[in-house]
Amino acid sequence: MCGIIGYTGGDPALPLLLGGLERLEYRGYDSAGIAIIEGRKLVIEKKVGKIRELVRSLWGKPFSGKTGIGHTRWATHGAPSIKNAHPHTDSKGEFAVVHNGIIENFLDLREDLKREGVKFKSETDTEVIAHLIARSYRGDLLSAVLETVEKLKGAFAFAVITVHEPGRIVGVKQGSPLVVGIGEGENFLASDIPAILPYTRRVITLSDGEIADLTPEGVNIYDFLGNPVTKDIMIVPWDIVSAERGGFKHFMLKEIHEQPKAVGDTVRGLLSSGEVLPFSLKEFRRVILIACGTSYHAGLIGKFWFERLAGVPTEVVYASEFRYSGSPVSEEDLVIGISQSGETIDTKFAVNMAKEKGAKTVALVNVVGSSLDRESDHSVYTHAGPEIGVAATKTFTAQIAALYFLALRENPDRETLLSDLMRVPSLIEEVLEKAEDIERVAEKFMKKKNFLYLGRYLSYPIALEGALKLKEISYIHAEGYPAGEMKHGPIALIDENMPVVVVAPQDRVYEKTLSNIEEVRTRKGIVISVGFEGDERLKKVSSEFLEVPPIVEDLTPFLTVIPLQILAYYIASRLGLDVDQPRNLAKTVTVE
Ligand code: F6R
Repeated sequence: MCGIIGYTGGDPALPLLLGGLERLEYRGYDSAGIAIIEGRKLVIEKKVGKIRELVRSLWGKPFSGKTGIGHTRWATHGAPSIKNAHPHTDSKGEFAVVHNGIIENFLDLREDLKREGVKFKSETDTEVIAHLIARSYRGDLLSAVLETVEKLKGAFAFAVITVHEPGRIVGVKQGSPLVVGIGEGENFLASDIPAILPYTRRVITLSDGEIADLTPEGVNIYDFLGNPVTKDIMIVPWDIVSAERGGFKHFMLKEIHEQPKAVGDTVRGLLSSGEVLPFSLKEFRRVILIACGTSYHAGLIGKFWFERLAGVPTEVVYASEFRYSGSPVSEEDLVIGISQSGETIDTKFAVNMAKEKGAKTVALVNVVGSSLDRESDHSVYTHAGPEIGVAATKTFTAQIAALYFLALRENPDRETLLSDLMRVPSLIEEVLEKAEDIERVAEKFMKKKNFLYLGRYLSYPIALEGALKLKEISYIHAEGYPAGEMKHGPIALIDENMPVVVVAPQDRVYEKTLSNIEEVRTRKGIVISVGFEGDERLKKVSSEFLEVPPIVEDLTPFLTVIPLQILAYYIASRLGLDVDQPRNLAKTVTVE
């Protein structure tokens, strides 16, 4: 999703803006641009493609202005092009705006402005903001912004600068993320904390309906009526080192290898936070787990544990479907929004809707201070550290660790089950040691055009997750399916060209899964299986066998997902693809 950066201080803004944009790259983007106040003029540079294109186009242009804004754009309204890239300006080029999110009523606003003679230069919804602010400006940028936000509908964040007040940036948050970084004689604005971490760890996370007014001397926060708001400054616990690649070729590979720590830290974090939730899951008629993408797959696994270990009926729903489903929700329901970023707009809206209907809400997030964290009744944190690769890996295993932990709250065998969970990090290490074998398998199958992933019971969500990982970073079509359902349709796809990845640990459905493997083999499909070390039966019926150490049934997902992440990673990496920033994808999806 789009990324915003802003700087005002005593240093030239350009290098700080470019550095910030690079650290926002992981959000996914197709074009980038900056605007700097140079004397009494706005200078703007935009490029389609990577930040390095923008950097190249700025060579030999030593801008020294000390206030500026920058943007990475993930196209929503209007194709990726220079004309649609941000910053956008008013007709006279005196105001520059960068924006993340969607202005839902922009067509109406645009028509009104056109009737007044405004000529639009782009197809974006953003440009209306620049024209509206210019039209409302009477010597005070904050007042012009206040007048403008009254007219905007949608979920958005934006930042604006003007030649009339060099040294000032005004930022607005309504639905999309925006944080303020507090420095010494300089201040920052960004969509996400890693963008400003090299300069400051003192951060204010804005809430919806808030406006930040920044100068080098200070930051003031207001609500949309212009009333001052007092905010706490948070000291960010991460440092920049933990947000960098640390010798790995890609962030994704680094993050795959960080999973023992992510799971261990999450469990330790939950153990040390006393009573994680001040109520029992059983107090509710049902639990509804709401999430998107990989977080949804974590929810599917959580459902099995919540129902069997905690004895509470559980539903798992896609956030984007739930919001408009009309599903009855009441105070008898506990709704848990699972989201790495805590900013996914579908999840946030769905959880908030359930809250309005009386449900108790819990945010299960990795980012402390994120919107979902702040807006839910209670929060449970994963402690995976910043995840930069667009494909979620360590936050998935951290999420399932947290879900398992919650399921055990009142289980009579809690202590034994928790000690099993504490063994997971060292067992993940053992799987990671076999990464080279998996790389060899990746090399062998990387030219295939389709993959089928199968699993039953706890391994079905893992099949879905394995297929998602492959398609999102390698652009190879992959489908995850319950192994037992295969005969009702997908079996028609199987022939000697179809690799079928089967997740088959020795669990309650092992024998059934072996039968499904036979169905694949009979049709000449190529079986790549994931199973327990020493499982000769499985090995014998597989073309490739990816082994994980044996573990109690409930904890198999922690281990079986790892070879699938590694397989997807090496296929994409060997194909020479942009593993950390796959095309069309964004790390944080802040549009509906
Ligand atoms: C897949 C992936 C996405 C996210 C989804 C939800 O690798 O990363 O499918 O899982 O966009 O994101 P969060 O968890 O931030 O709500």
